[in-house]
Amino acid sequence: MKKFISLLLCAAMTMALMTGCGAGSGASKALDDGTLTVATNAEFPPFEYVGDDGQPDGFDMALIKKIGEKLGVEVVIENMEFASIVSSIGSKADVAIAGMTITDERKQSVDFSDPYFDAVQYVLLPADSDIATYEDLEGKSIGCQLGTTGDFIVEEIEGANGSQYNKAVDAVNDMLNGRLDAVIIDSNPAQVFASNYKDQIKAVDGKQFGFEVEQYAIAMPKGDTELAGKINQALKDLKADGTYDELVSQYIE
Ligand code: ARG
Repeated sequence: MKKFISLLLCAAMTMALMTGCGAGSGASKALDDGTLTVATNAEFPPFEYVGDDGQPDGFDMALIKKIGEKLGVEVVIENMEFASIVSSIGSKADVAIAGMTITDERKQSVDFSDPYFDAVQYVLLPADSDIATYEDLEGKSIGCQLGTTGDFIVEEIEGANGSQYNKAVDAVNDMLNGRLDAVIIDSNPAQVFASNYKDQIKAVDGKQFGFEVEQYAIAMPKGDTELAGKINQALKDLKADGTYDELVSQYIE
């Protein structure tokens, strides 16, 4: 009996050592448990929105599930406020996919995968608005989603009265109600919102206002190079085998 117990102990110690070794040799903490918990904010069509079945759907959701398949892990989506996403990484979530633009400020807290999509901020306007240049935005009431790059742009506009919303759709509704002169939001959601209210809203390309091109990427815990390598490889493979293009035509075009 004694011998059996010490054998058991020995086995347990060896296992502890082995897992210890695994972690030391750069194994990804995020992938350890066989699930990849992914933060998003499903208020951003066509990249993420709540589908008819109540579950997050959209291009990003489909893309991260394909990446999960390549990595051999189950993807679990955590829907949360956009402004909470970056700080959730490494605690509530392993990674985030949320149409999130790579910015220097965010890079101080998280690492980003290779970019997977280009965008630019658009300006949503009432159909009869005569706002057409950056200067025209000065002093206006402008809505945006809290903590987004659109929010950062609004903050910079001279004399603008910025209103930040947790859901972009609420900003759009306030513009329809006459409470806002404009809403600044990424190109693709802007086009979706504008097409939902064809006669009442126009979507103007932010390049006309001097806004710069932005790149979306998956946000990951700082320093998890194994995870970064695997995610970037999966992205490459999905582009090479046509899956990425299929998802673009299914969700975006
Ligand atoms: N691209 C913008 C940013 O990174 C907006 C993203 C908003 N995404 C969302 N799922 N609500 O700040």
